[in-house]
Amino acid sequence: MRTDVAQTVRLEDYRPTAYAIGTVDLDIRLAPKATRVNAKIAFSPREGTAPGTALELAGDELKLVGLTLNGAPLSPEDYEVGEDTLTIKTPPEGPFVLEIVTEIDPDANSKLMGLYRSSGTYCTQCEAEGFRRITYFYDRPDVLAVYTTRIEARKSDAPILLANGNPVEAGDIEGTDRHYAVWHDPFPKPSYLFAMVAGDLACVSDTYRTLLSGREVELRIYVEHGNETRCDYAMDALKRSMRWDEEVFGREYDLDIFMIVAVSDFNMGAMENKGLNVFNDKYVLANPETATDQDYAGIEGVIAHEYFHNWTGDRITCRDWFQLCLKEGLTVFRDQEFSSDMRSRAVKRIADVRLLQSHQFPEDGGPLAHPVRPTLYRQINNFYTATVYEKGAEIVRMLKTLLGVEGFRAGMDLYFDRHDGEAATIEDFIKCFEDANEADLSQFARWYAQAGTPALKVAEHWDEASKSLRIDIEQSCQPTPGQTTKLPFTIPVRFGLIGPNGADMEWTSASGAELRDDVIILTDPRHSITFEGLSSRPVTSLLRGFSAPVRLADDKDRDALVFLARHDSDPFNRWHAVQSLAMQLLKRGARTPGALATDEIQELASLIGEAAGDGNFEPALRAQLLQLPAESDIARELGTDVDPDAIAAARKAVQVAIAGHCAESFAILYEALADTGPYSPDAEAAGRRALRLTVLEYLAWIDGEASVRTLGHYRTANNMSDRLTALRLLVHRADAGAQEALDDFEARFAKDALVMDKWLTVQATAPFPETLARIRTLTAHPTFSYANPNRIRALIGAFAAGNQTQFNRPDGAGFDFVADTVLSLDKRNPQVAARLLSAFRSWRALEPGRRALAEAALRRVAEAGGLSSDVQDIATRSLQ
Ligand code: ARG
Ligand code: ZN
Repeated sequence: MRTDVAQTVRLEDYRPTAYAIGTVDLDIRLAPKATRVNAKIAFSPREGTAPGTALELAGDELKLVGLTLNGAPLSPEDYEVGEDTLTIKTPPEGPFVLEIVTEIDPDANSKLMGLYRSSGTYCTQCEAEGFRRITYFYDRPDVLAVYTTRIEARKSDAPILLANGNPVEAGDIEGTDRHYAVWHDPFPKPSYLFAMVAGDLACVSDTYRTLLSGREVELRIYVEHGNETRCDYAMDALKRSMRWDEEVFGREYDLDIFMIVAVSDFNMGAMENKGLNVFNDKYVLANPETATDQDYAGIEGVIAHEYFHNWTGDRITCRDWFQLCLKEGLTVFRDQEFSSDMRSRAVKRIADVRLLQSHQFPEDGGPLAHPVRPTLYRQINNFYTATVYEKGAEIVRMLKTLLGVEGFRAGMDLYFDRHDGEAATIEDFIKCFEDANEADLSQFARWYAQAGTPALKVAEHWDEASKSLRIDIEQSCQPTPGQTTKLPFTIPVRFGLIGPNGADMEWTSASGAELRDDVIILTDPRHSITFEGLSSRPVTSLLRGFSAPVRLADDKDRDALVFLARHDSDPFNRWHAVQSLAMQLLKRGARTPGALATDEIQELASLIGEAAGDGNFEPALRAQLLQLPAESDIARELGTDVDPDAIAAARKAVQVAIAGHCAESFAILYEALADTGPYSPDAEAAGRRALRLTVLEYLAWIDGEASVRTLGHYRTANNMSDRLTALRLLVHRADAGAQEALDDFEARFAKDALVMDKWLTVQATAPFPETLARIRTLTAHPTFSYANPNRIRALIGAFAAGNQTQFNRPDGAGFDFVADTVLSLDKRNPQVAARLLSAFRSWRALEPGRRALAEAALRRVAEAGGLSSDVQDIATRSLQ
């Protein structure tokens, strides 16, 4: 295998192509091992291109079998085929048509990029650079063209033939067993949004009438036969997404038909190809027996995300891949807003911040840190990160906070208006908000350019004589790779000053920073903000709703945190206060075993007990309030010298103590929350289940070895949320009922690989030294396959990212296992291998013994020969 030469691509080197493309006519004759692609591409020189300028197209693992220019075959001296290129040395003056015939092997395509087969279905994945694995092309997002796609296949293999746009024509090819279909997409698009699918699929259809112009849109979800009954929720989520985008952003769907195809082999979550979204089946298929409440929420969010891309991504795309956050950050923000409107805003916000803190903060604090808009990359696939997606969404949210609801909408409207049909940049995006609001966002734009999580250090000074409060806030940001010093950020801090009765207080004047309603806008390294005219000393509630992606270091004492936990009118900050109290304890417990004073734990337990039974809060929010920070959160907050075993021990001790303290009320609550009616995945019912299951988890710790309650919960479960949580609790506590439940689960779902993924994950995340051996055994289980990304993520990805004590085993065996897996997987699927390797991103924070072992494993990967550019890039950057 050849080593990819990882060439560095730089933002500053951006140049438009020499030629533009008007139309692309594809004729794809499908065959499993030798698919013929005939691409007729109409080029014309861009303004300023000198006559005869060479045309250089990208290609990857293509066999060139024919090449004509304006209908005449090209002679070998007129072109050159390189390893990854096709160059037409001196094209004619003016427009010309190049016809390229390539042959590709879908069956051999194990990278799942370009055209491949998934359970016999032909499908494509072209983002970011997969189209070049189908034909030679300007495979970059700033080259927009109108595509017509003809697909031909054996009728028996592929009765269904799909491509982007609207159907034009279909028929049989007489005298053969083959048939064809032609699709035309009138909207110019970049090659990464091209898609085609062909196979024997079942179709679930529905219609949607647009609100804005009353057009009827045909909706179709294609799945493997037998899965038709598992699409209802996805279809409903799609219709709700279409309606919401009209109501909230004024965006209407633009083709006659919208299709979703669920495939079982997919590198990522889903893909927004114009009019033909291709999904990992995990984000489509659901019924109560097989999907957890979290799965339902995931489906709703991803269906919305891909649909929303139709405007933020497809109609307006990215000029180059450095601008990836232009579509991803914005679209994540849009899907988060959608889910907030569909469910509970407070609960959604907590879940999103949890994700940001657990995935993006460690990225920003480690060797893989990069700006939301990077300025260089060696492998773009490695930049589909929490920073680009989640932090990118936070930046858009801050824009809305700074500009207000109307100012934000005005900016979005201008963006859609001004850039429709274009490939845009972050500068273009920001400019729309500046122009629509007469605002200067130049300092704000640093959020896109500077990596690292800013920290806010806060100190408060109360002056009893003048009844004034001074809040000193200092911002800073640690160095990140390639960026040693940082300029100050614009940081919106939503806040309240809480009086003794729990209500927000009024003040007569404030100075020291700009204030817009309840938002302090920080722009300088230091601000001293003084509030005058307060009736008594307030407790400050800062960063309400997590108004900026920063680390807040208040000097709040326990009493103030307890007060906030009981009284803050902002539900997010209530949750945050409980988390902060718990985190203080857990950090101390992890550093010095036995250091925890009982009265402190009692105090936390009382708060948690109160929250559990507080009828003023919806159950889903109470479930969040009850959850202790995860082991990985504690590791992140410790920052250095991390000992995962000590963390796990401290967390368990606190959990057991809380369970003991609340045993009686939790047992009552557990019974009271039992659902008697039929199962429904709606947010309300899901919230009650979440609370009940959180309570069950505490109770499981004190129920003793053979937990009758947990096993009973497993046995009587009528839905996957109940069943899976009970299974996890039994297995993770090595309960006597664990094996019975594992066997039962396997017997029930053996034929359903997607559900068996949960069974794999439960075992891979068990916190015991035996787990690693168990995982090795499971790699030979019939449900497991190294060819399927979902299986790898469920077993090995879950181990690396979700099993703190065992991945970080003190003997280094966890590191070695993951490194070995990365090396063997790299030959098959570099993208999935590279993603798995990024589990090492926080290796430097470990205590010296583990750190040395993790580094050795990483070096072994970095120094192995024949690596893909994907794995090479992650390995090298992780060690920098
Ligand atoms: N644009 C897709 C989404 O977020 C992700 C596709 C990523 N694909 C890749 N090969 N990196 O909706
Ligand atoms: Zn996306």
